[in-house]
Amino acid sequence: MKSLSVFAGTAAWLMTLLLIPAAGLRAAAEPFGETSEGTPVSIYTLENDNGMRARIMTRGATLVELHVPDRDGELADVVLGFDDVAGYESERNQYFGCTTGRVANRIAEGKFALGDKEYSLAVNNGPNHLHGGRDRSLDKVVWDAADVQTDNGPGVRFKYTSPDGEEGYPGELRITVTYVLTDENELRIAYRAKTSASTPVNLTNHSYFNLSGHGSESVLGHELTINADHYTPTDDALIPTGELAPVEGTPLDFREPHTIGERIDQLVDTPAMGYDHNYVINEPFGRPRFCARLKDPQSGRVLTVRTSEPGVQLYSGNFLFGQKGKDGKTYAQRSAVCLETQHFPDSVNQPDFPTVILHPDETYRQVCIYAFSAE
Ligand code: GLA
Repeated sequence: MKSLSVFAGTAAWLMTLLLIPAAGLRAAAEPFGETSEGTPVSIYTLENDNGMRARIMTRGATLVELHVPDRDGELADVVLGFDDVAGYESERNQYFGCTTGRVANRIAEGKFALGDKEYSLAVNNGPNHLHGGRDRSLDKVVWDAADVQTDNGPGVRFKYTSPDGEEGYPGELRITVTYVLTDENELRIAYRAKTSASTPVNLTNHSYFNLSGHGSESVLGHELTINADHYTPTDDALIPTGELAPVEGTPLDFREPHTIGERIDQLVDTPAMGYDHNYVINEPFGRPRFCARLKDPQSGRVLTVRTSEPGVQLYSGNFLFGQKGKDGKTYAQRSAVCLETQHFPDSVNQPDFPTVILHPDETYRQVCIYAFSAE
């Protein structure tokens, strides 16, 4: 008997030793397979005191899973994704959860000029450049990662150095993206970048949310509020005209909550095929302020978005096509919604839009906070 209790005591002591660092860190890395070129990919798990859990992988600094409590404390994974790297490399992947750039959203004809130099980028979306290019955009490369302690809690920091000329962009760009999960159920994403030569930078996270859980049939019943009096109207290829138009009197007006489905039919026959619009968020940008609120009446889950960016692209998953995702779930058209905080599309060709040009003596900074609650 005695030796058993001594053993139990020693085991408990050993457990304490093992648990102390684990509880203090709360960011654990595991292998997540490899890319088709054989580069190993890791996945980091962040967990907070409420059981909320985020998993983020080094390919594309991509949010793969986000488990959030509903009004009864039941967890569901509220973002679209895949079970393995092959899924992310396949044509089923439409930028699910990734860090998007160097320039997120569209650049008209993939062309821009800086000083007297003209640049030409890959054209991968009709006549335009989309989300940083074709082969080496930020969603497709494998980032370095390490866990970190920040003022807001423990997290994981991803680093990637994009060489001068990668995807046609000038300057060597050194980027860090830090994900932190706080005990207030906020997933905070902080971006920083430095460049060796003047270059456009516009980063975002491209998570697709369904607050009933990924694979739920539709997001049309979610109630949305967007803190924006204006949006940027576009041409037929979704390139802004340069105008800032009032949302008032249009199906884009989310200043008061509306379900996503309530007026979407009025947009089906437009080039956006639903919501795929950039909003001009009210109040000066530079510091995080209220951007949007998304509520799922079924589960009671609420997502509140705050951002330091001037704009947010609302995209209602119009191009989802029923592809298979995590856990064998099917992702039907409009079964998820993206709220991509960013500078306005094609800013590099629009002198009146806030600039996206980063100069070598500056630091690019952005904060996006996805805060979850339930009611
Ligand atoms: C963005 C664009 C959409 C679409 C998706 C990816 O949100 O605005 O038009 O290209 O990415 O499918």
